[in-house]
Amino acid sequence: MKRVLLDCDPGIDDALALALIAGSRDALDLVGVTTVGGNVDLSLTTANALALREFLDLGDVPVTPGSPGATPRRTVRAAVHGTSGLGDAVLPAPVRGPSPGHAAGFIVDALRSAPGEITLVCVGPLTNLALAVRAEPRIVEWARDLVVMGGSYTGGDRVPAAEFNVLTDPEAAATVFAAGWTVTAVGLDVTLSAVVNTAVLDRMRPLGRLAELLVPGVRSYKEVTDDDGPAIHDACAVAYVLDPSLFTCVPAAVTVETTGLHTRGTTVTDLDPAGRRANALVATALDVPGFWDLVLAAYGRLAAR
Ligand code: BDR
Ligand code: CA
Repeated sequence: MKRVLLDCDPGIDDALALALIAGSRDALDLVGVTTVGGNVDLSLTTANALALREFLDLGDVPVTPGSPGATPRRTVRAAVHGTSGLGDAVLPAPVRGPSPGHAAGFIVDALRSAPGEITLVCVGPLTNLALAVRAEPRIVEWARDLVVMGGSYTGGDRVPAAEFNVLTDPEAAATVFAAGWTVTAVGLDVTLSAVVNTAVLDRMRPLGRLAELLVPGVRSYKEVTDDDGPAIHDACAVAYVLDPSLFTCVPAAVTVETTGLHTRGTTVTDLDPAGRRANALVATALDVPGFWDLVLAAYGRLAAR
């Protein structure tokens, strides 16, 4: 059993990542969900996380809001998730509210209370985690692992040179990559192959009530890929925690560009770092059929509950 803490900005693919955790109770113990402004404003990412906690039957897992995002004048949002953040998926309004406190404090406290046990999975802008590292650098030693959906060494999404989560708060990403741990970076290079094409969507339709989230969410998710559907990036980070053998990963030295006029948010990735310390394990390939078998099996278990 792995203990995980999910920092997210739901977000349609964030919701599908959370559903993957919810369907993997035998393997994952979710200690908390923290939210950050990203795909949509913090008030919406938090409201979505609260609605998902109840819809996905996650019990009393705390949902703790964090930062609204980087400097407001630079705020970047992702229209592909619709105005609510969950596209056309409409979930019942949550009954219970968020936990008090700030996501960064929650992250620090959780890691302090269980050193070496908790894997951080970050699938939104890295603002909360950077605040946590700056407040308590020892979390670098206390985390069991850190898996980030973010970055790319082959090109960006919203802009040519940067991936959305890094683009949204490059300074935070720079802090996280330079903090001294090894960041497992599951970037666009692999997540763009996790496409919900028509065949995959057909496997989601029979999933009862869960399909009410998955199908309208995916169909309205305007993420452009070369295949006939959107890529559910964030579920890849959770899949890595569940089964790292689905991924090929390479030790690399990653630095984040924070000043470039056209390249702000680029994760400059040296896949052959030679004498330099490899601060990242960068995913370079994904077993796509294996990924869908894992994800759809978990969704099937969740739907059958
Ligand atoms: C990332 O950007 C967001 O829109 C998604 O939720 C994902 O975390 C992909 O670049
Ligand atoms: Ca996200």
